[in-house]
Amino acid sequence: MKFFIDTANLADIREANELGILDGVTTNPTLMAKENIKGEAAIANHYKTICEIVDGDISAEVLSVEFATIVEEGKKLAAIHPNIVVKVPMIKEGIKAIKWFTDNGIKTNCTLVFSAGQAILAAKAGATYVSPFIGRIDDSGWDGVQLIAQISNIYNIQGFETEILAASIRNGNHIIACAEAGADVCTCPLSSILALLKHPLTDLGLKQFLADAEKMKGTV
Ligand code: G3P
Repeated sequence: MKFFIDTANLADIREANELGILDGVTTNPTLMAKENIKGEAAIANHYKTICEIVDGDISAEVLSVEFATIVEEGKKLAAIHPNIVVKVPMIKEGIKAIKWFTDNGIKTNCTLVFSAGQAILAAKAGATYVSPFIGRIDDSGWDGVQLIAQISNIYNIQGFETEILAASIRNGNHIIACAEAGADVCTCPLSSILALLKHPLTDLGLKQFLADAEKMKGTV
């Protein structure tokens, strides 16, 4: 399973990248606005900087909702760097645009996916990635991880090549459950990635080892 970081914050991206386990980055308009990135030039520049930090697929979301403008915007985003993946919302115009990008060799990430039916349409259009929002599904009283398992089963049966990118990850347990359910990628906030490091027995064990290391060195 690939690890992406779900943020537009450059410090978090650098910290995750330094772990050596990062395969890509996803952003969305909310995450970009949080970093106060405004205007076409600043947006393009920010995506370029992210591409220079991380060697992997970088999702940049279109801000349009009509076929022609999604295509126009996506072409500009894709021209920023070869690793840019155009992120397109799961709407009728978005599906048409994803098919256009597929036919023209531009990678896509179909976002705002909340059902298996939507995931089938994204795969039929040739999306590189499909992004089910598992945390938001949990918030609405359904089971986000179960949707990942269902899409994984359908894609396996049908031979769809679209990669399942589990998004809206809220904690380390989500990452483990998505790995078990067949996600190809998890895109996570830095806190959820770092949460995987933690176990109280690791901390206790290390404390003891460090104390005994001092004995070995003859310092105590
Ligand atoms: O990139 C989209 C997604 O991960 C959103 O997460 O926490 O806003 O539901 P969240």
